[in-house]
Amino acid sequence: MRRKMAAGNWKMNGAQAGLSVLDGLIASHAESPCDIVICPPHPLLIPATTRCAGGPVAIGAQDCHAEAKGAFTGDVSAGMIADTGAGYVIVGHSERREAYGDTDAQVQAKAVAAQSNGLIAIVCLGESLSQREAGEALPLITAQLAGSVPEASTAATLVVAYEPIWAIGTGKIPTLAQIAEVHAKLRAELVARFGAETGEAIRLLYGGSVKPDNAANIFATANVDGALVGGASLKAEDFSPIIHALEKS
Ligand code: 13P
Repeated sequence: MRRKMAAGNWKMNGAQAGLSVLDGLIASHAESPCDIVICPPHPLLIPATTRCAGGPVAIGAQDCHAEAKGAFTGDVSAGMIADTGAGYVIVGHSERREAYGDTDAQVQAKAVAAQSNGLIAIVCLGESLSQREAGEALPLITAQLAGSVPEASTAATLVVAYEPIWAIGTGKIPTLAQIAEVHAKLRAELVARFGAETGEAIRLLYGGSVKPDNAANIFATANVDGALVGGASLKAEDFSPIIHALEKS
């Protein structure tokens, strides 16, 4: 009942000359039953949306400012992102939380701005290795979800991505039981907060070292509705098999 989603976060990678990656995805997934999203750096949003118009690949940004406009040098508002034709924005990625100090309240404000501008907010959360080892993963994730997700969210405006920090870019992934445990907790919290209908309909992505060879097992895990993929989304020959695994799941 939940439409599956494969989202690629290019982080600070890519250039106009490399946008042919999108052509490969468009060609291989023309009739995809899944939502496919690529989130390139801001300068590539317009060429990417132009290239993907009318096709199976949607475009998203990697962050936005909570305010609509003003003296915020270097920042980009959700309205500006929507104006490029993008449909999504990632907020609360651990790289933003760690390097820029984004708090749950700031992430929530960014997500509100995204949703108010017609974008789907992909809200990221996840624990560090020391937090997991201290047994703090579930309480932390519960608090991040409560603090980062806007009150007015619906299944049409919110996607939640669980990204354990220690799995990002490391080649390590949690056990499937650990992923299932976190996703079950997230599902229960969403149902408690938004009611059964909305809480069951909000998509939950797993992110952190998703690769072609582990994707099928991850997608077979309860309450995993897709993936947020970093490194393996940069090349069509890596991302396309992940999308195929999702399409078959
Ligand atoms: P990797 O897939 O490279 O581990 O990155 C995950 C991530 O941070 C996606 O947002």
